[in-house]
Amino acid sequence: MSSKILSAILEAMDEILVGKRLRIVRDGQAGEVPGRITLIVKRGAFGSGEHETTVSCLEELERLDLEGKSVLDIGCGTGILSIAALKLGADYAVCVDIAREAIDTTSENARLNGLDSRIYPVLGTVDMIPDHLRKPYDVILANIYPEVLRSIVCKVAELSKPGTLFVGSGVMWGDNTEIIELYKKVGFRLLVNRWLEQYTTFVMVREGCL
Ligand SMILES: C[S@@+](CC[C@H](N)C(=O)[O-])C[C@H]1O[C@@H](n2cnc3c(N)ncnc32)[C@H](O)[C@@H]1O
Repeated sequence: MSSKILSAILEAMDEILVGKRLRIVRDGQAGEVPGRITLIVKRGAFGSGEHETTVSCLEELERLDLEGKSVLDIGCGTGILSIAALKLGADYAVCVDIAREAIDTTSENARLNGLDSRIYPVLGTVDMIPDHLRKPYDVILANIYPEVLRSIVCKVAELSKPGTLFVGSGVMWGDNTEIIELYKKVGFRLLVNRWLEQYTTFVMVREGCL
């Protein structure tokens, strides 16, 4: 089945199960189901659970130990990845996006999930992160376009520390090796490299003394 048809089917669904532990719903009244963490994600920006890159990132996130971690989500869209990270145990998330509708949707979704006190939306690029939030993060997420992944590599290095996990996505196979090599040059080591439909998703860790 083509990814476009699959996306159209998923868009019509009120509930999407992702990976082994996550469940996306649109309605705050949808309740819980045993064995699944519910993410309430209203549409309004990119990232409501239908796209293969979002799904791949969520599947990688649910495998990580996120307990108590700080998260930087570059290109947050609906905030879906940060909401998942927080519900999987992370402490707080800074959500950055250049699109006003993404920041508004992230704020609304944070509220619907009871996470508004732990999600800090920032309108703009990573350069616009205010000084008090400009520090090394435990986890950096960037499901974004290849040209942006290339342009932010030094910023990601600045906002990381030894042990920081970097989840990158939105890259087709043709660009995958080149982009991973860029992140290796600033100190990251590849842990996972995978693809779903047309896109690749990779998990890297920043090396160095802890
Ligand atoms: C592919 S969507 C990912 C949304 C969500 N994180 C997900 O995983 O489904 C990429 C998002 O990046 C945002 N974006 C594009 N260029 C950006 C930049 N330079 N800095 C921050 N956000 C950017 C877009 O507005 C869009 O919301």
